[in-house]
Amino acid sequence: AACGRTGPAGPSAGALVTPADAIVDAVEKERAGTGKERAFTLRAAESELDLGGRTVRTWSYGDALPGGELRVSAGDTLKATLENRLPDPTSVHWHGLALRNDMDGVPPVTQKAVRPGEDFTYRFIVDTPGTHWFHPHVGTQIDRGLYAPIIVDDPDEPLAYDEEWVVMLDDWLDGVDGTTPDAVLEEVRGGMDHGGHGGHGEGGGMGDGPMRMGNTLMGASSDLLGGDAGDIYYPMHLINGRPAGDPRTFTAEPGARLRLRLVNAGGDTAYRVVLGGHRMTVTHTDGYPVEHREVDGVVLGMGERYDVLVTLKDGVFPLVALAEGKDATALGVVRTGSGRAPGGDVRPDALDGEIVHATELKAAPEVRLEKRSPEAEHTIELTGGMGAYDWALNGRRFDHDDPTKGAYKCEQGQRVRVVFKNSTMMWHPMHLHGHTFQIAGGGPRKDTVIVLPGESVKVDFEADNPGQWLVHCHNIYHGEAGMMGLLAYT
Ligand code: C2O
Ligand code: CU
Repeated sequence: AACGRTGPAGPSAGALVTPADAIVDAVEKERAGTGKERAFTLRAAESELDLGGRTVRTWSYGDALPGGELRVSAGDTLKATLENRLPDPTSVHWHGLALRNDMDGVPPVTQKAVRPGEDFTYRFIVDTPGTHWFHPHVGTQIDRGLYAPIIVDDPDEPLAYDEEWVVMLDDWLDGVDGTTPDAVLEEVRGGMDHGGHGGHGEGGGMGDGPMRMGNTLMGASSDLLGGDAGDIYYPMHLINGRPAGDPRTFTAEPGARLRLRLVNAGGDTAYRVVLGGHRMTVTHTDGYPVEHREVDGVVLGMGERYDVLVTLKDGVFPLVALAEGKDATALGVVRTGSGRAPGGDVRPDALDGEIVHATELKAAPEVRLEKRSPEAEHTIELTGGMGAYDWALNGRRFDHDDPTKGAYKCEQGQRVRVVFKNSTMMWHPMHLHGHTFQIAGGGPRKDTVIVLPGESVKVDFEADNPGQWLVHCHNIYHGEAGMMGLLAYT
């Protein structure tokens, strides 16, 4: 999070392009719902937050960072009323949920942005269990701190565990010591000029600050993800809203079986996550089960989730999220016994151990797509570079005012293959709304996948959720700059 400024007031022009209500209603009726409704209120407002001894003025849900967790059971109908008390229009996007299209929270495609002072009620059936999260889909608002987890419990949970912690990772630049975001960004920019990003809205409200920041920081990518080391760093990396200098403490009994639900809510950072002194068993990614795999750690691109199981030893252990390529960490403290808390600079050996990537995992048999040849195929080339900041798909920047232009087409019932082909020097976490694809060759079911520089990732999905769905890079700055497109059912 946190480049301080948000995008323009939000796309205002443009008609909704969501499909006829009747089609969406019909598909919703087929979802396996229990009829049980769970109601929540989400108040988006400017707030003062204590991020570990430092107070920042920012935007959040319910004056908390992360916002309070929403929890439902698969089959429940979620009813969430967004109260927009921000100075700008906003929306809520339910990242990872295959929901009805008109509740996807993407202005101007699936709804009009909710204006300041107004409310909007999201209501939809949640039919699949998993670890997900939500955030606005307007400009770079997410990076202010507007995010929270949504956990969908499995009524027939097959895993056994004693403790469950949701861990949200975030990168935070502004408001650290009273420095204005603009001043911080000015420093990060180092005087480099930037020729605008061809964005939308009036007056370039997004500014080029965050863009340049993302840009510069992505230049500091790690060897793991490709790119050269740089000397730019974020002042803070957060675990559940706390920096390494003043970490969150999690407590449990020694011997407890722990389920960690990891979510990367950062705008511009991949995290390598380990629990010092422990191995972990990966059970899910992006909410979907995988064949269990014991490793030292996992890597999460922006938007990705991993669930892991750990049997806790007796003592005090560091939960470390290494910001890839940035020589900085987020820290949490896991306490099951006595001992001194680790310092903020702790670097567990596990960080250099066996770190698993999504492409090395296999879908659990029950969620594997059956073999079938694709009836629609799209190659989506990730294009652009830092110099011109012209991030795009197939050379075309997304136009928020004309979102269906150049849309990738499919028909209901088709098996669709998408090939993400990365022709840039940077890695990109590519996210598809409304569906869970499978990485080709029996890989995991996911909605967000890291595509490394120069590489291609093939994914397949069933076109079973009619509508207009975004596909975009979850580096918030890349996406907003234009690395975004639309999958449109015809
Ligand atoms: Cu996390 Cu398009 O979203
Ligand atoms: Cu990107």
